[in-house]
Amino acid sequence: MSRDAVTEKDTTTSLDLSEAGLYGAAFETARDQVRALISQHPGTFPTFTDAGAWHFEEDPWAPTWSAGFLTGLLWLFADRDETGWWREHAQRYSELLEPRKRDDGTHDIGFLFTPSWGRWHAVAPSERTRDVLIEAGRTMARRFNERGQYLSTWVHPGSTFIDVMMNIGIIYQAGHLSGDETLTEIATAHALTTRRYLVRGDGTSVHEAWFDPETGVFERTATHQGYRADSSWVRGHAWGVYGFGTAYSWTGDARFLDTARLLADTYVARTGDRLVPPNDWDDPQPRFAYESSAGAVVASALLQLADLIGDPGGDRYRRYAYRLVAKLSGPDFLAQPGSGWEGVLRHATYHLHNEVGVDESVMWGDYYFVEALHRILRGRVAAIGS
Ligand code: GLY
Repeated sequence: MSRDAVTEKDTTTSLDLSEAGLYGAAFETARDQVRALISQHPGTFPTFTDAGAWHFEEDPWAPTWSAGFLTGLLWLFADRDETGWWREHAQRYSELLEPRKRDDGTHDIGFLFTPSWGRWHAVAPSERTRDVLIEAGRTMARRFNERGQYLSTWVHPGSTFIDVMMNIGIIYQAGHLSGDETLTEIATAHALTTRRYLVRGDGTSVHEAWFDPETGVFERTATHQGYRADSSWVRGHAWGVYGFGTAYSWTGDARFLDTARLLADTYVARTGDRLVPPNDWDDPQPRFAYESSAGAVVASALLQLADLIGDPGGDRYRRYAYRLVAKLSGPDFLAQPGSGWEGVLRHATYHLHNEVGVDESVMWGDYYFVEALHRILRGRVAAIGS
């Protein structure tokens, strides 16, 4: 679809200023829910809920990848807290996950370290935060397949996901902090490969690409959490909007900004006034109307994009994101303290086909929802990691 077509169908409206209190109230509700979690289960890192109660056993699908989100929530709350209570917990949780900086069994190093040590470094840079971020970025960069020019997933050396775009910011940051240009080149090469094989000409996106890991030759597309290989799993699409915006923020490469805008325009065109998407736009019979974590990710991504573009141009993404966050802040999605639901955002799905975290809360949904609230409340986009 062309960008003009999207513009014609633009349904964004100005922010109703009476909604301003809604965002602050949602931020406080999220803070109460997270305070209850870390008080009742200190030092644990759940990924999803079961019937609203946090699940503390091992992730049954992926190598555990969500510890950065709970830690990032603590840093976001610390940013609006004068007492030091949240800061103390944010540092402790960051320290608990530090050993993962050498974890070569996952492609989710950016998810682990950008919301945690990246936020710590942004507010109080030190040799220690610098060294952790450099080591984490180098670990991620070792997943690079030179022949195929991509970073591989934990699934197989021949696989890459659109999700990996969320894990190249840590490589750019390590390159920036260390002065090692090879790191920057690897991150950019991966982003260009993703743009070529995982972003379709019509502005939709693919979840997974497979290559021959020996020759680097592209073989096929696939999906794990989406409807099918040629459909659009919306959370993956949201990772793409955010990840290409991040790639642009580190490089200033217009190709990445164009791609982020194309993916964002597709999100707006396909989701429209519903604002919150289903798990996959192309599923003809979705089991659930909403996958709220995709909405939360895209809200924060659109606010980042709006800031990167500036006004005019960025304002339409900002207005859409405000409406989306307002919807997520309403009673259909936001869990209420005392209701027995332990997460923040309801109606998220982790892995539909595997029946893992289906129509539940997921930690990244809660994190990106609060990140979006934080961006709105602060009135400008946070450029973490610079
Ligand atoms: N593994 C990333 C996701 O489920 O979105």
